[in-house]
Amino acid sequence: MANIEYDPQRQLFHLHNATFSYIIQVIRGYLVKRYCGPALEQFSGTAKLEDFSHAFNIQNDAAPFSLTTLPLEYSTLMGGDYRTPAYAVRNAHGQLIGNLKFHDFQILAGNENFNGTLPTARTPNGQTLIITMHDETDTLAVHLKYTIVGDLPVLLKQVAYRNLSDNTLTITHAASLQLDFDDHAYDLITLTGAHLSEASVTRQPLTPGKKSIASNYGASGPQGVPATILAAPATDDFAGEALGVTLLWSGNFNYTAQVDQFGNSRLVMGLNPELFSWQLKPGKPFVTPEAAVAYTTKGLNDLSHIFHQFFANHVMPVPRRNLIEYNTWESTYFDVSEAKVLAEIPKAEALGVELIVVDDGWFKNRPNDAGQLGDWVPDPVKFPRGLRPVADALHARGLAFGLWVEPEMISENSELYAAHPDWAMQYVGQKPLRSRNQLVLDLSQRIVQDHLIAVLTDLVRTNHIDYLKWDYNRHFSQPGSPVLPPDQQGEVGYRYTRGLYRVLKTLRDTFPKLIIENCSSGGGRLDGGMLAYTDQTWTSDFTDPVYRMKIMNGFSLFFPLKTFVSHFTMSPNLQDSRVTPLRTRALLSLVGVTGIECPPSQLSPAEAAAVKASFAFYKANRAELQNGSLYRLHPSHPNQDQVCWLITDEAKTKAIVLTSAGVIAPIPHYQHVLLHYLRPTMSYQINDKKTATGAELNFAGVTLPLAHGDFSATLMTLQAVSHLPQTTTQANGDIAKLPF
Ligand code: GLA
Repeated sequence: MANIEYDPQRQLFHLHNATFSYIIQVIRGYLVKRYCGPALEQFSGTAKLEDFSHAFNIQNDAAPFSLTTLPLEYSTLMGGDYRTPAYAVRNAHGQLIGNLKFHDFQILAGNENFNGTLPTARTPNGQTLIITMHDETDTLAVHLKYTIVGDLPVLLKQVAYRNLSDNTLTITHAASLQLDFDDHAYDLITLTGAHLSEASVTRQPLTPGKKSIASNYGASGPQGVPATILAAPATDDFAGEALGVTLLWSGNFNYTAQVDQFGNSRLVMGLNPELFSWQLKPGKPFVTPEAAVAYTTKGLNDLSHIFHQFFANHVMPVPRRNLIEYNTWESTYFDVSEAKVLAEIPKAEALGVELIVVDDGWFKNRPNDAGQLGDWVPDPVKFPRGLRPVADALHARGLAFGLWVEPEMISENSELYAAHPDWAMQYVGQKPLRSRNQLVLDLSQRIVQDHLIAVLTDLVRTNHIDYLKWDYNRHFSQPGSPVLPPDQQGEVGYRYTRGLYRVLKTLRDTFPKLIIENCSSGGGRLDGGMLAYTDQTWTSDFTDPVYRMKIMNGFSLFFPLKTFVSHFTMSPNLQDSRVTPLRTRALLSLVGVTGIECPPSQLSPAEAAAVKASFAFYKANRAELQNGSLYRLHPSHPNQDQVCWLITDEAKTKAIVLTSAGVIAPIPHYQHVLLHYLRPTMSYQINDKKTATGAELNFAGVTLPLAHGDFSATLMTLQAVSHLPQTTTQANGDIAKLPF
């Protein structure tokens, strides 16, 4: 149970639960971080703050503290702190408002979400600390929010600004968090990438100067995920200290890790100041995105497990059973039609498919990506009777109906554009810059949000839609709003993302059973903000199973298994022409939310049998494969592009070891893999045969089957067979009978 204690004598706040403590202290008015780590019963301050005087003193009369070395909670470029600032606000004189000092605090029940319009984690039984800071002229109030999430070692941080003066203030930088460390002995772990190669992991030591990962694309983007880890140099997946930080935000962002002149370090994360400014009117608030900090001493797998629990239980929509899907995209591209979909239904059903998704191409005048975007009316030739015949045919068989949409877009050849050219994002007098032949709707306008809410509500209701694939296939280029005044053009990005959340939230509230798949040309907008409104994510347009597994392995640092959609795809693959063994295609599509991207009617008998068997196996193990715990394992003698995962239920009574073996090595080796996370005293039956204790499997490990040729995959099942009540030991599905 999370608690917040305040010691008035020392002006010390201690936020803690059973696993984690975060301690801050007011020192001469400034808010200073004293501790972030494993839970402490008490804090007496045995580790001293560095109090050497450097150049500027906090107060001219109050040496020796100096802002240059204090680990501050939220600071700016004034008063001698030259490190990366967390905020910059200009007053009516055009001058920066100076450092903030403690004013008062409140402790509230639950997670106070300042104004309710941005995504926030659910923490119903927790407490929230809000510390209010003022600048010395009482022009600006800043409220710093702190909430510990349930029993997890996770701290939420969020910041609200309020203008106390009679003049408009200009915010040009407003981070969600600042974390100062009195050392820089950390590696920075980042996820960067591009379309078709998302979530590439880089690990590098912090060195003097700054390292930033940012987006000014309008969305978080495949180029960088708004989430990072600081890990002690010796930390690996299985042991060691690591601190992870993520934003519940899908727009432009920046995080900067800095090592300063004294070898101390600072991490600042939040909105990207590059394209941002905000006119803060008298009395009005401004709220930053929420950030989450997670901490462990038990390695990166444990940190990931904490993030997975955080997202699955506190951020994502209430758990549901996501469905096995056939998606038409790689079968037909834009040439989809009622006749084609109806013809596939019995074949798809025979494979075990539960949901059919009609992807792009279903609406009027959309023969290719130069087609009409924004009107969302079925094409009269491809779907002469509208979408209902498909929906009805699916529902008659107990299957679900899904539809692709890209609601945030508009093309100039649409009826919507003809009626509302001012609804597109644009710069005055400049030719709109198209990408994929389309423009971005200006979701900063409430009227545009309302339009989308009305159109989508009608689409879902009229057509009995169970699922939407929500795509977003281009980024901002001229982030201007035709309706905002000149001095508010810097607000477009923030207002857009906030507007997007409003549309998504309204739809979710209206249709609580609707499944929404997040997509941005694949995993280009997979972030903590979109997770709050979507059930699953199309991880990449790169559907080669081997590379997709690597991409998911990168994302798995932060995001839980049920986020990932992985479909059985064609071989040779449509993106890289790689030929992958059938067994690999079937096995590697089992993780997260499975499905198929090939036309069921065109599968060879061997393919159909493999898909049918893997879907049956998936159904028998859905709880683990979709919602289980995921740990990255490391086989000995690793091959290039190898990924190995352990997937278990929470009680560790069932386990699956799934390996994508990568490129075969010239020298044959037995590859051993330690399973690390099974219950040591439990006995497990492996592939329904040999039995071994969890301890042996954890510490001596198992031998993976020898790889034959490139890109093989293996699956091992483990079933607890002792120390358990009878009811929890059901069979895993008959792995021996899989025909591949
Ligand atoms: C994006 C998606 C694809 C597909 C196409 C349709 O690229 O990632 O899966 O839906 O759009 O245009």
